[in-house]
Amino acid sequence: MTPLHEVIINKNTKINPIWIMRQAGRYLPEFREIRKQNPNFINLCLNENLSSEITLQPLKRFDLDAAIIFSDILMLPYGLKQEVEFEKGFGPKLGGINIEEMSKLDEVDFVERIYPVYKSIKKVSESTTVENKNTIGFVGAPWTLLVYMINQQSPKKQLKDNFFRDEFLINRILLILEKFLKIHIKNQIDNGANVIQIFDSWAGLLEEKDLPNYVYSPTLTLVNYVKSLNIPVICFPREIKNYKEFCDVVKPDALSIDYNVDPKSILNDIKIPIQGGLDPKILLSDKETLKKEATKYLDIFKNHPYIFNLGHGVLPETDPNMFEYLVNSVKNY
Ligand code: CP3
Repeated sequence: MTPLHEVIINKNTKINPIWIMRQAGRYLPEFREIRKQNPNFINLCLNENLSSEITLQPLKRFDLDAAIIFSDILMLPYGLKQEVEFEKGFGPKLGGINIEEMSKLDEVDFVERIYPVYKSIKKVSESTTVENKNTIGFVGAPWTLLVYMINQQSPKKQLKDNFFRDEFLINRILLILEKFLKIHIKNQIDNGANVIQIFDSWAGLLEEKDLPNYVYSPTLTLVNYVKSLNIPVICFPREIKNYKEFCDVVKPDALSIDYNVDPKSILNDIKIPIQGGLDPKILLSDKETLKKEATKYLDIFKNHPYIFNLGHGVLPETDPNMFEYLVNSVKNY
């Protein structure tokens, strides 16, 4: 069994597999080289030769236990024919929603628009570089996708005042998302993804009273769907107010924690396998601090099934030597 499956399925506490969110990306000079030639990020994600090459770049350098496919959660609204662009220094920019047109979209149209993503997963999962390692597929959680689709850009710290104004529209979008997220998940799995991670980067923007409606319920539907396909599912409900309640209701196979979570209290509260936690900024410090902080997480989760990762994506200014030092420190723990 692969190391990640050992931890998630067999609850093995003797090993600590490692992969890192955004492990394929801007901190790597070989990625920046390809990116320079490909100014359009969406087109890069839709180039299966380049996106599979980028996916494997970190695995060729470092002793990582999983590949996460080079794509983006916003490929989903792109597949739904909403305009999506990534502007340098600004982030994602989305067009308006034509709900009537979106409601008419069928599975074939959607899959055709993002088909190279699945071809890329197939290439990665069949490469010798990932032998005995996992190929991680992913989706954005319905809530986080809804935030981008309505807000049309990153919400930074808060939602627009009138975000919930058109509840009818919101509910129609959520239904569309449920349908197409399932299709997206199924196609990733059919092409070789053998772990699915659900990113809910903006779960923390909601008040507690709104969590059941916008986070628990739609995520539970997806988690049950992934489970029905016999693939383990990891949830990352970033900065959510109540992790224990989230796990009790949604029951993912593993929980990825952000860097604001106190690892000791989560250990007390949560029985399922845990992933992540380390603040990505620690990689910008020095080797001694990095080793000390990484060891802290490994010590705390010594007798708990634990996958090493960060509490959010690796920062673009990270020195690849520090990344390597982290991977080796975890491997030699
Ligand atoms: O983790 C990986 O290595 C796999 C690839 C991956 C990307 N985005 C590539 C990417 C994954 C899993 C994501 C998920 C994603 N995308 C999330 C959830 C995780 C999180 O960060 O909270 C979100 C919210 C997005 C949306 C998104 N994509 C934003 C807000 C941005 C701009 C900000 C930024 O970091 O540049 C992106 C762009 C993006 N997605 C880049 C990469 C490598 C940078 C693009 C570039 O090269 O300019």
